[in-house]
Amino acid sequence: MTQNTKVLGIDTSCDDTAMALLEAEKFGFRIISNVVSSQVKIHQQYGGVYPFLAKREHQKNLPIVFKKVLQQAKSKTFDMIGVTVGPGLEPCLWQGINFAKEIAVKHKKSLITINHIEAHILANFIERKSTAIKLPAVCLVVSGGHTTLFLMKKIGRYELIGETLDDAAGEALDKIARILGLGYPGGPAIAAEAKKYKGSTSVFLPRPMMRQKNYNFSFSGLKTAVLYKCKARDLNAEFIQAMCAEAQQAVIDVLLHKTLKAARDYKVKTVMLGGGVVANEALRKQFGEKLQAENFAFIVPSKEFCTDNGAMIAAAAYFHRKDKKNLFKNIAAQGNLAI
Ligand code: KG4
Ligand code: ZN
Repeated sequence: MTQNTKVLGIDTSCDDTAMALLEAEKFGFRIISNVVSSQVKIHQQYGGVYPFLAKREHQKNLPIVFKKVLQQAKSKTFDMIGVTVGPGLEPCLWQGINFAKEIAVKHKKSLITINHIEAHILANFIERKSTAIKLPAVCLVVSGGHTTLFLMKKIGRYELIGETLDDAAGEALDKIARILGLGYPGGPAIAAEAKKYKGSTSVFLPRPMMRQKNYNFSFSGLKTAVLYKCKARDLNAEFIQAMCAEAQQAVIDVLLHKTLKAARDYKVKTVMLGGGVVANEALRKQFGEKLQAENFAFIVPSKEFCTDNGAMIAAAAYFHRKDKKNLFKNIAAQGNLAI
C-alpha cells in the first residue's frame, strides 16, 4: 500500500471543519476532494472563536462534510485516515477524533494521529513532488495560535529554533482588527484595508525583537501600540488604512528578518512557510523577493492550503503511515501538543 493510496484527512482544531481526500502518487498527491466548512459567521459576533460553540458546530458539520467529500470524490473508498490530535482547542479536537475513530472502525481502516503544526509545514508537499524540495529547510509556521521557526532535516525531524514569547502573529492581527472595528478573522480584513492605503497619513509601529540575536518573536507589544495610538482619536477610513498597512508591514518585517537570519545561519537550501497568515499576499511577495535574491529556494502552499484544511492532514498521515507512534491506540486530544 504505497502508490495510489487514498488518504482521508480530518481537522477540527479550531473553527473550521476541514476534510479532504488525497491520492498518493509516485512523487506527490492528487487532490480528489477538499471541503472546508467555515464557522466564521457564527464566531464573528464574539470577535473570536468561542470553543463550545465551535465544538457544537463541528459535531453537526462533520457528517455533512464527510458526505460532501465522498460525493465530490464520486467514490466511497479510501485506504487510511489522518486526524489532528493537537495542538488546538481540545473540545474541538475531540469532535474530529471521535468521528475519525468511528469511521476507522466502521470501514476497517488505519487511523494516524497528526500534529497540526507539522501538517502546516507538510502542506508544502501537497502540490509538488517531494523530490523537488531540497532539505535542510528553515520552516516558518505562522497561524492564529503559533509563530514558530523550525529547522527541518527531513520529514518527521524538526528542531525548534525560535517561537513567539507571547501572542502569535495571527492572534495579534486578529486583536488589532478588533481594536479597529474590522471584525473576525482579522488577518484578511487588515490585508484588505492595507491594500487601499494610498500613503497620505503615516503611522509608525515598533518591530518587536527584530534586532535581537535570536530567532524568537513577540507580537503582543504591537497590539498595545495600536491600542495606544487609537486612543481618543477619530478612527476615520484613512487612519484605519494607514494603521493596517503599518501593522501588516511590521509583522512581515519581523518575520522576514528572523527567517532570513535563520536561513543564512543554518546554511539551508530552502525556506518553507505554512499557516493561515502566510496566505497574506504582501507577505508572500516580499518573502519571495528577498529569499530568491539570496538564492534560497522559497516555497509556500497555495492560499487554500495555508489556512486550515484537511489536505495537509491527509498528506501528513501518508508520510507517517509507517510510524508506530502515530497509529492510534489510546488516542486523545492534546491541546498543547509540541512537534
Ligand atoms: O492556520 P490558521 O487557518 O488557523 C490556525 O491554526 O490558527 O490561521 C488563522 C490565522 C488567523 O489569525 C487569521 O487572521 C490569519 O490566519 N489569516 C491571515 C490571512 N488569512 C488568514 N493573516 C493575514 N493575511 C491573510 N490573508
Ligand atoms: Zn492552523
